[in-house]
Amino acid sequence: MASPHDRLRALYAQKPAVLAPMEDVTDVVFRRLCRKHGATVGMTEFVNVEGLLRGCRNARRKLQLAPDDELTAIQIYGSDPARLAEAARFAEAARPLFIDINCGCWVPKIAGRGAGAGWLRDPAAMVAMARMVVSSTSLPVTVKTRIGLGPESHMPIVDLARRLEDAGVAAITVHCRTAQMGHSGAADWSWAARAREVVSIPVLVNGDVRCADDARRALEETGCAGVMIGRRAIEHPWIFREVRALLDRGESVPLPSPAARIALCREHLVANVAQRGEPFGVHCTRRHLAGYLKGLHGAAALRQQLNQCDSLEGCLAILDGALDQAAA
Ligand SMILES: Cc1cc2nc3c(=O)[nH]c(=O)nc-3n(C[C@H](O)[C@H](O)[C@H](O)COP(=O)(O)O)c2cc1C
Repeated sequence: MASPHDRLRALYAQKPAVLAPMEDVTDVVFRRLCRKHGATVGMTEFVNVEGLLRGCRNARRKLQLAPDDELTAIQIYGSDPARLAEAARFAEAARPLFIDINCGCWVPKIAGRGAGAGWLRDPAAMVAMARMVVSSTSLPVTVKTRIGLGPESHMPIVDLARRLEDAGVAAITVHCRTAQMGHSGAADWSWAARAREVVSIPVLVNGDVRCADDARRALEETGCAGVMIGRRAIEHPWIFREVRALLDRGESVPLPSPAARIALCREHLVANVAQRGEPFGVHCTRRHLAGYLKGLHGAAALRQQLNQCDSLEGCLAILDGALDQAAA
């Protein structure tokens, strides 16, 4: 059997379209759905190492992988290198594809305490921490980070990429914004290109990949191994198969039909309720529905009806009505 490092290398040689880690989004159900639509690899939501090591239920839940989660990495975050290393060892038991360290979260309560993008304040400390995590597990360890803290004129990401490779990191994802930018402003992919040039490990480019053509351009402009896609997948998980069709066969895929859009709403609702019960399974699907229903006749009213309904049965009846209307 191929080693975890060989598996990661093989996957990252296929121009992967990776589902970005997203808190309250990339749970077991959504990862499955995105894989089904062509995502090469998925990531868990970030897991707080302190919560995990304390036995906190929510952290342990995020760590649980389903039998079909073979292509899922676990992302961890924290500010203490020894605790991150301990958590990586702990996470290894869940048998993820690899462990990713979050060095990019800009949210003040996380970055302000030295975790996430807080590591960018001290690149040497970040590299030493990564080295410690790498040595604590036999799984590949990757890092997801930003180009810098902001507003420095020359971003640390290029030098950092080189040093992270030296520390034994297996791949790097560059979210091409500074921490100060949060999620606003345009991602500058040129920094991913510069980081990619100085390392031989795979670099993934992340930020503002919103359609298949963006993915093609991001890969062409940066020479990166693959793309990571976040927000667009929440509303349009079909993006993964669209990217695959364009990259693998040079084809454009038609937009999903109204029936396919309604079918995805049903599928996601049913799966979330099976996983989380009612009404939470219904509530946590809502953020996806606006995007899934986009372009449908009467989408706004339909969305409003769905947002007011707490039961699976009620939501499915509303969607059945929409399907009848779409077919009429
Ligand atoms: C709702 C939400 C939750 C996120 N949670 C995480 C997270 O847990 N870990 C992480 O590394 N990034 C997280 N991110 C950042 C994304 O992984 C990604 O880097 C960012 O959205 C930029 O990519 P995009 O333009 O494709 O969305 C989150 C983003 C969003 C919108």
